[in-house]
Amino acid sequence: MQVVVLDSAAEVGEYAAGVILRGVSHGTVKTLGVATGSSPLAIYKALERHRSPELSALSAFALDEYVGLAPDHPESYAAVIRREVTDRLGLDPGRVHVPDGGAADLAAACLDYEAAIKAAGGIDLQILGIGRNGHIGFNEPTSSLASRTRVKTLMSATRRDNARFFADVTQVPSLCLTQGLGTIMEARTVLLVANGKAKAQAVARAVEGPLASMCPASVLQMHPHATFVLDREAASDL
Ligand code: GLP
Repeated sequence: MQVVVLDSAAEVGEYAAGVILRGVSHGTVKTLGVATGSSPLAIYKALERHRSPELSALSAFALDEYVGLAPDHPESYAAVIRREVTDRLGLDPGRVHVPDGGAADLAAACLDYEAAIKAAGGIDLQILGIGRNGHIGFNEPTSSLASRTRVKTLMSATRRDNARFFADVTQVPSLCLTQGLGTIMEARTVLLVANGKAKAQAVARAVEGPLASMCPASVLQMHPHATFVLDREAASDL
C-alpha cells in the first residue's frame, strides 16, 4: 500500500485526478469505479477541467446505492453520479452503471451488477472514500472481506453521518446495495482519498491496524496497487 500525504483537499483531488488522467492517456484506464460522498468531489472537478474525448469515452461503475430512493431523488446515488460524474466528465449515460436500488428482486440486481462489471472486463481504477467507521462503499464493519455485491443494512452511525444530505436522519434509507470487498479488491488499481481530522482514525486503522472486518478498508493492505491519498489532517494519526 502506498500513502501520499498532501497539504489540502484540493491537492488530494488534483493528485488523484492526475493518476486517472495518466491512466486514460496510456490506455490502461478505460473503466472507472466511482464513489459518492464529499471526498471524491475534488477529483471530479479536477477531471472536468481536463475533459477530453478520451476521458469522456470512459465507462463507469458506482460502488453503491440506497434501496428505496427513486433514481430521480436528488440524493439517490444514481442522481449524485449523474450530477457529479456523468455530466462533469461528459460520459455517455449508457456506459455509467449504478446498482438498481429500486429493483423488485434486489438479490438478482446484485448478481446482474457483478455480471455487468465482468462483461466490461473489470474495473481498471476504483476511486474510494472512507467512512468514519472504516467502511468503503457501504461495506460496514463486520462485512466479509470476500463479500460480493449484495444488500446491506446501514449502521445508525452511517445514517447519522449521511443525514446531512437529507431533511433529517429518518429520511436516510436503512438498506443499500453495495459492491462487496471482494468485488472492490478485483479492481486493478485502487485510489482512496480522505480529508480532515474526522477521518484520521479510520485511515490509521485501515493503514496500520490489523487486517480485520471491523475496519473494512484494512482489506486494502492486501491489494497489490492501492494508494491512499490524504491531506495532512486525515494522515495525522499515522
Ligand atoms: C458514504 C459512501 C461512501 C463514502 C462515505 C464517506 O457512506 N457510501 O462511499 O466513502 O460516505 O463520505 P464522505 O467522503 O462524504 O465523508
